[in-house]
Amino acid sequence: MADKNVVILISGRGSNMEALLEANLPARVAAVISNEPGARGLDAARRRNLPTAVVDHRAFGNRAAFDAALANEIDRHSAHLVLLAGFMRILTAAFVRAYEGRLLNIHPSLLPAFPGLDTHRRALQAGVRIHGCTVHFVTVELDHGPIIIQAAVPVLPDDTEDALAARVLNEEHRIYPQAVRWFCEGRLSLTPDGRVGIACAPAPMHALISPPAET
Ligand code: GRF
Repeated sequence: MADKNVVILISGRGSNMEALLEANLPARVAAVISNEPGARGLDAARRRNLPTAVVDHRAFGNRAAFDAALANEIDRHSAHLVLLAGFMRILTAAFVRAYEGRLLNIHPSLLPAFPGLDTHRRALQAGVRIHGCTVHFVTVELDHGPIIIQAAVPVLPDDTEDALAARVLNEEHRIYPQAVRWFCEGRLSLTPDGRVGIACAPAPMHALISPPAET
């Protein structure tokens, strides 16, 4: 089976992109595209001699025009799979529908809790004991698509937003490559009720209890 062409969309640091690049996936990263000309992740991609492109949202009068230009750039690379990796633009329904089933996102919370921005601050404010991250198929409703994999981490009593974000980010770097590997291996399917099936999924771990139960 020929490797799938993957296009990665970033807006900033690009640490999830780097985790994907380092994971030795059965995929060819055809391009890294950013809406931010100064995105740090672009430098990392260039250092690896990957094709990069910038589609600056400021150059377009509305979301539809930006999304059309973005789609145009993605399609130049014959993408089988499009990965949002810290891509901080809301996409139009038309864009999402064009890539439905082959557009993934990583979100720094245990969806459906805390969709949107500032997830770590909101988790601390809510006093949750367990927080985490989610890889999901992107659908028209923001941060609501079918869930592929999640990682949970404990929230510690003295956590700052940064400390919690770092703990979650470590897990993002593990679960995003895993989800993409499953996709590339053709092991993901959507069930009629909108959930994700994983062929030969590994057995789940037992519970993460936070703080641990004493008995
Ligand atoms: C990650 O926490 C990702 O989940 C969120 O934005 C952050 C991007 O980080 N959507 P990076 O650019 O991948 O380092």
